[in-house]
Amino acid sequence: MTTDPGSCVLEAVDVHKAFGTQRVLRGVDLRVEAGLVTVIIGGSGSGKSVLLKHLIGLLTPDKGEVRFHGRPIDEMDGRALLDFRARIGMLFQNGALFDSMSVYDNVAFPLREHRRSMPREEERERVRTALHELGLRDIEHKFPAELSGGMRKRVALARATILGPEIILYDEPTTGLDPIMIKAVDDMIAETQERLKVTSVVISHDMASTFRIAHRVAMLYHGEIIAYGTPDEIRHSDNPIVQSFIHVSGTGPLQPAAA
Ligand SMILES: Nc1ncnc2c1ncn2[C@@H]1O[C@H](COP(=O)(O)OP(=O)(O)O)[C@@H](O)[C@H]1O
Ligand SMILES: [Mg+2]
Repeated sequence: MTTDPGSCVLEAVDVHKAFGTQRVLRGVDLRVEAGLVTVIIGGSGSGKSVLLKHLIGLLTPDKGEVRFHGRPIDEMDGRALLDFRARIGMLFQNGALFDSMSVYDNVAFPLREHRRSMPREEERERVRTALHELGLRDIEHKFPAELSGGMRKRVALARATILGPEIILYDEPTTGLDPIMIKAVDDMIAETQERLKVTSVVISHDMASTFRIAHRVAMLYHGEIIAYGTPDEIRHSDNPIVQSFIHVSGTGPLQPAAA
């Protein structure tokens, strides 16, 4: 497995997708580098979630392909596809926990899907550890509706990391949260990144968050990645669309304080 820092784990190559006459992705090229946090930014409705769904194989491109370690994912079947799915953890927009299941059953769900022969005792230990590592204790028997928004995010992350994924994808993890919660979720992403040495892909429309957590930023606009680079490169991009997006989002380049 090639996971040298900077090598490409997941790659979109000329990905096109239309829904009816609406061309959402018009030739997306994106390389997700191993061990880094890549943040995909773009306006509401620009196709960020659609792109993420292509990266995990939930949607198939009309043209182009997605490659995992160089291998086109639409050529995978059976075992390879299961293996790919097990190596990817996903936090969907709005959490998407199973409301009718306890916290325990939510977090254990991927183990039951992918590690059917795991003994119950080991399962219990894995679930407990995953929750503890995110600062959650004694909530295994609660249901999602009994938890705060921040706790639900943590439970969703525990579920997404329980199989020890190589990549974690987060779809707008901070949307709808207050500034203190946003900071907490940003810290949670950075801390998880450090602890598990995973590759992370985060979708965001919040520039403050983006600049806090990103090693690489990619901007999606009109169905294409129009800018890609380090946070500093994006901050100083001479692309007017990038600059206007940064400014509208309220985090322009830092200016020297007025004398
Ligand atoms: N399954 C679908 N069927 C039809 N249209 C869709 C589907 N999924 C997304 N779209 C459309 O694609 C566009 C981009 O959606 P999305 O990726 O969710 O945007 P965002 O950047 O806000 O995540 C939107 O106009 C949306 O209505
Ligand atoms: Mg979205």
